[in-house]
Amino acid sequence: MGRVRKRYAVPLGVLGTGVAGIGYASVIERNWFRLRRYDVPVLAPGQRPIKILHISDTHLTPGRRRLIKWVSALDALEPDLVVNTGDSISHRDAIGPFLDLLGPLLDRPGVFVYGSNDMYSPVPKNPARYLWRTSQKDYSKRRTVPDLPYRELGAAMTAAGWLDLNNATGTIKAGDTEIWLGGINDSHINRDRYDEIAGPAQGPLSIGVMHSPEPRNLDRFVADGYQLLLAGHTHGGQLCVPLYGALVTNCGIDRARVKGLSRHGDAWLHVSAGLGTSPYAPVRFCCPPEASLLTLVPAS
Ligand SMILES: [Fe+2]
Repeated sequence: MGRVRKRYAVPLGVLGTGVAGIGYASVIERNWFRLRRYDVPVLAPGQRPIKILHISDTHLTPGRRRLIKWVSALDALEPDLVVNTGDSISHRDAIGPFLDLLGPLLDRPGVFVYGSNDMYSPVPKNPARYLWRTSQKDYSKRRTVPDLPYRELGAAMTAAGWLDLNNATGTIKAGDTEIWLGGINDSHINRDRYDEIAGPAQGPLSIGVMHSPEPRNLDRFVADGYQLLLAGHTHGGQLCVPLYGALVTNCGIDRARVKGLSRHGDAWLHVSAGLGTSPYAPVRFCCPPEASLLTLVPAS
């Protein structure tokens, strides 16, 4: 009896640890929302700070009440501008819940771009496959016609006064500052058309907005003089290794800049690790869901 117990002790221990790990990643960390704060020195001396709330990758499905409540409460931060870098929904009935998630934030100045998941519903797949291939191939091979109501999603945000930056430019007033914004649709599914927005960024403050931080587009924003670039898509790696970080970025950017604030040429780059996951891979490990408050301050 003792020998049998000994033989199964190790495999049972490994199994127990695996089950506990998946339970933690899917129940606890996936709902352990964090607010990250960064100061970004891009303003002229003496200019009043501007607060930007950056949200991304909510992948909302109906019923995620904790996520909805947490994001809508961020209105208490009183941001001057809200930036949504896409992958907002993962279900055809998620537009209403997504508007609930924005809640009072919708009454503030806001801008948005789409991510691939706003257009294409999620499909079951091996969650470990992301380690050896990006999800880009899934779209180029099998998905050609969008099946999610992304136009209605965009129309709802536009109706609230938010600026649609999918291959478009525009200006928006945040606080007492007029900001020039340029944005592109998702490069992950080849919907980015930088040529349509190409040209020198205007005004004293300019922000580039995109879903996927693809270096070829980051380079073009920088060449046009944009000072701050905002993106999502990477989920910060989603499943990270302690003391090592993200294993993959799911796009062309390097692992070191998979999330957080960094430099890209003369511009600042902020990549959000996002707030959600695909419904078919509902786990996060060492990479909690996040929103970011970027406070633009004068450059010293
Ligand atoms: Fe995403």
